[in-house]
Amino acid sequence: MTSENQGETRLILGPMATLSHEAFRRLVARFGGCDEYFTEMINAASLIHAGPFEKYYLLSGPEPEKIVWQLTGKNAAPMASAARIVGELGGIGVDLNMGCSAPQIANTGAGIAWMTKPLSETAEMVRAVKTELENAAKDGHKNRLSVKMRLGAEDFTEEKLFSFCQMLLDEGVQMITLHARTKKEKHRGHSRWEIVQHLAENFPQIPVILNGDVKDRASFDNAMKAAPNAKGVMIATAAAQKPWIFSMLKNTSAQENAQIDAQELALEFIDNVEKYQPPEFWKTRLQRFFAYYCLNFSFAHYFQTQMLNAKDNEDAKIRVKEYFEKCKCDIIIKKEN
Ligand SMILES: Cc1cc2nc3c(=O)[nH]c(=O)nc-3n(C[C@H](O)[C@H](O)[C@H](O)COP(=O)(O)O)c2cc1C
Repeated sequence: MTSENQGETRLILGPMATLSHEAFRRLVARFGGCDEYFTEMINAASLIHAGPFEKYYLLSGPEPEKIVWQLTGKNAAPMASAARIVGELGGIGVDLNMGCSAPQIANTGAGIAWMTKPLSETAEMVRAVKTELENAAKDGHKNRLSVKMRLGAEDFTEEKLFSFCQMLLDEGVQMITLHARTKKEKHRGHSRWEIVQHLAENFPQIPVILNGDVKDRASFDNAMKAAPNAKGVMIATAAAQKPWIFSMLKNTSAQENAQIDAQELALEFIDNVEKYQPPEFWKTRLQRFFAYYCLNFSFAHYFQTQMLNAKDNEDAKIRVKEYFEKCKCDIIIKKEN
């Protein structure tokens, strides 16, 4: 596949803690959306104990039928119970986070720790989740079970990776997304797309999704060249910077020369956060989004600092307007950028 996504490759918004929530998804949807929206990781134990903020994690708009609920946790039982809860809410299905390498997750036995525990322990967890997802099936709707993972720890080999994936398939996992970096690499280096290809060649029974470092049309084309058997591409950080990236990759002629009012989009995001996030989260959600969004502009660092220092949403709106008042040439972004 070259410079156009022919509609064969699934375009997926990646899960990003504090970013992949409804307020943000609405920005993506505004430009035509994507094929699947992964939620930010939802802590299974907190969900089943119905913490005060859980209802916000369970918002599935604006395209609920395209939601994939991502769960994180360190024990099988809460993961299974949480899968039952989200499985009853509809959407495409449930994804298990086996890729997060952040110490506060991985060191507790969650995220990528599932790739390094004894295989039988991980298999048991997946089996328990699968059973609850089947119990949650309503009106003939079957939830897909998927896993998002990395290559593994530093001593990973393709052989180990493939036997791990074979176990996942044996337990009923129906899709795998590979962020082809090791645990220690975090976001350094480059996602090894060729290993995504090897994985896809080895497991043609399920869709294998490529993740990591797709940020524009050129990198999308290169990724597809490196992994032609991948059935989809998941984009995370580049979507936070450019919520229109999926529509750009779809490349429909109507969108070709479209222009984006960057100020309007920024203000819309702040309004969305007020509608779809609890007040306790407003500040951090704004900070996290603007850290990426500001990269579009001439004075990115200045704009980021301005937004980081915003006292509240009203102040954030004033700062957005002030920035574009000073840098008028940044207001309009051409989509192909
Ligand atoms: C701020 C942030 C939060 C993230 N949160 C999650 C998460 O909740 N679950 C997960 O599986 N991956 C998470 N990731 C990893 C991304 O989904 C993705 O795998 C990674 O950023 C590489 O893709 P990219 O190059 O398209 O950004 C997060 C990444 C970032 C930068």
